[in-house]
Amino acid sequence: MSGGAGSTRDWDASVYDRVSDPQLDWGRRVVERLALEGDETVLDAGCGTGRVTALLLERLPRGRVIAVDGSPAMAEKARAALPADRVEVRVADLLELELEEPVDAAFSTAVFHWIADRPRLFRRLHAALRPGARLVAQCGGQGNLAGFMEEVEAVIAREPFAAALEGWERPWLFSSPAEAALALADAGFEQVDCWLEPAPVVLDDPRDFLRTVVLAPHLDVLPDELGDELLDRVLERAGAPLTLDYVRLNITATRGDD
Ligand SMILES: C[S@@+](CC[C@H](N)C(=O)[O-])C[C@H]1O[C@@H](n2cnc3c(N)ncnc32)[C@H](O)[C@@H]1O
Repeated sequence: MSGGAGSTRDWDASVYDRVSDPQLDWGRRVVERLALEGDETVLDAGCGTGRVTALLLERLPRGRVIAVDGSPAMAEKARAALPADRVEVRVADLLELELEEPVDAAFSTAVFHWIADRPRLFRRLHAALRPGARLVAQCGGQGNLAGFMEEVEAVIAREPFAAALEGWERPWLFSSPAEAALALADAGFEQVDCWLEPAPVVLDDPRDFLRTVVLAPHLDVLPDELGDELLDRVLERAGAPLTLDYVRLNITATRGDD
């Protein structure tokens, strides 16, 4: 996997598609929260390989989706999986998002915590919505993976990882509901509601999941052999079966009538 320009990076889309059942389960419940007539145009902000986008599309029998992702590999996989006449897949950084026409709703799952510039992200999403349109989203929130990351930090505090990761910036931002609500209101959103939801996940075969999702940013900056060693050490320390202490931040907000 390679780091990308701006706030995006490329992902191992084949493996993500195979291991992302937790994200699919969370996404299914977020899709249900979006009130739709069925004929709208909806933005999927950070569509990944399109597994959750497909669920969104089921709610839009007469509508369409604009699916945006910053990872070319993810977008390619989504494009292959989704009907081209009803889903337009675009490769773009959400921080640079510009749509020709405003959409009727915006949807996003498991994405916002990867984007540190939350004020800019929310301004771009606000600008992409028509007046009165809703944003319904979920991402990692305050306390997400805190216990698991404590184990990871204990491993990487020691050599050979400490030297290799010196100065490396953790890419995630796990906000509290209050922080997210403030940023959304600052971007112009109204009727903002944000809340946390514990969502622990037990993984029977965790190596590929850690490699592709949770520890992918670490592995991006480590040589391959050190990356494998990191996975060994973390799996050993965390024990089996591995429970990941996920906490999701739910978001609903509306673009006012201006
Ligand atoms: C964990 S995946 C979630 C994908 C999908 N929504 C799901 O629930 O399975 C996170 C996705 O966010 C995308 N992403 C992260 N930062 C982004 C940015 N700044 N612009 C566009 N996409 C971004 C990644 O490329 C990746 O596909």
